[in-house]
Amino acid sequence: MYQKCSYGKSELNGSGDQINNRIHEIDLRSDTVSRPTDAMRDAMKNAIVGDDVYGEDPTVNQLEEKAAAMLGKESGLFVPSGTMANLIAIMVHCDKRGSELFCGDRSHTYLFEQGGASQIAGVLLSTLVNKSDGTFSLDELEKKIRLNPDVHEPFSNLCIFENTHNICGGRVIPLDWIDGLAEICKKNKIKLHMDGARMFNAAVAMKCDAKELVKHCDSACFCLSKSLSCPIGSILVGSKEFIQKARRMRKVLGGGMRQVGIIAAAGLVALDHMIDRLSEDHARAYAIAEAIHNLKSPLFTVDLKSVETNMFMIYMDPKIITAREFIHAMVTVSEEERNNDLNIIVKCCSRFPEWVRFTVYNQITDNDVKLVIKKVTFVIKQQFEQTLLK
Ligand SMILES: Cc1ncc(COP(=O)(O)O)c(C=O)c1O
Repeated sequence: MYQKCSYGKSELNGSGDQINNRIHEIDLRSDTVSRPTDAMRDAMKNAIVGDDVYGEDPTVNQLEEKAAAMLGKESGLFVPSGTMANLIAIMVHCDKRGSELFCGDRSHTYLFEQGGASQIAGVLLSTLVNKSDGTFSLDELEKKIRLNPDVHEPFSNLCIFENTHNICGGRVIPLDWIDGLAEICKKNKIKLHMDGARMFNAAVAMKCDAKELVKHCDSACFCLSKSLSCPIGSILVGSKEFIQKARRMRKVLGGGMRQVGIIAAAGLVALDHMIDRLSEDHARAYAIAEAIHNLKSPLFTVDLKSVETNMFMIYMDPKIITAREFIHAMVTVSEEERNNDLNIIVKCCSRFPEWVRFTVYNQITDNDVKLVIKKVTFVIKQQFEQTLLK
């Protein structure tokens, strides 16, 4: 069942490590709440800038070239958000009216981009059932591709996959599956785009070069914000011709920014210093997941094999307890907790009643991990198990 996005909200204002002397608040809703590092703020202050719509911002140019080279593509384009990066890719690849694209039914493009593909680009979104590992059936895709469409049908022009897969719990998409997908797309003259909002998490988890992940893709994007900790920005990469067209689309969407080197400067710091450290986030996410798994709760489960990057899901039976109830307990400090000096609030988020997602990022420390484990242990063992398993 689908539900309105549910984010843990405490009664306290704001976020941050220590809200006051009594309550320790840890925000694991998403890596979108990550904050820029001091090195980023210094680079932003000192950035050399120009008018990027004229192509005259040296810092943006440097960032676009660096990102393209890192991903083995000819060109790159700096855009304000992942949503815009995906939409631009769709608009370029599906420039013929009456186009159709394929994506997973749990993909960000389908669930969380307001149907921009249809609303703005006029493209039909055809979904494929996402498996729990973030892939979808390649047979189903092949069956749905319209060969020589007649007058009744749209043109199948694009396929999008997500890596890491957010709503499947930060799953890393296997390279051999991407090989198979690319083969089908090539055979059927369909363009392939990777929504790699967190592609460097995937590369670090697989211990491979990010180039490997996108080598078959006509275009790909990643976010500098989120796990790389920048305040704003995404990069779209592809061939020179693709990026020339993408630059035009960015302008019509209002994404042409002027002295934006001030933000791109943070992106350069991210590409130099924030990628290798992602393994620390992965280890912290795993430590929390493992602790929950070791509770052996009959009510809550974590599939440790699926914990691959900086996020993971806790599953529950919504007939017994819903994600919303769990989230509420995590952001509430009960009297018993107060009396036991457990003044901890952990924000987490959900989209479906049967799971809650925890996400780790740069600002989450080892001490935070310890506190999260204390809190979640209390909520599961003392609160839910004691009342529901009587
Ligand atoms: C997989 C994926 N793609 C795209 C986006 C959109 O990014 P933005 O919030 O920068 O528009 C997100 C955001 O969380 C995401 O998780």
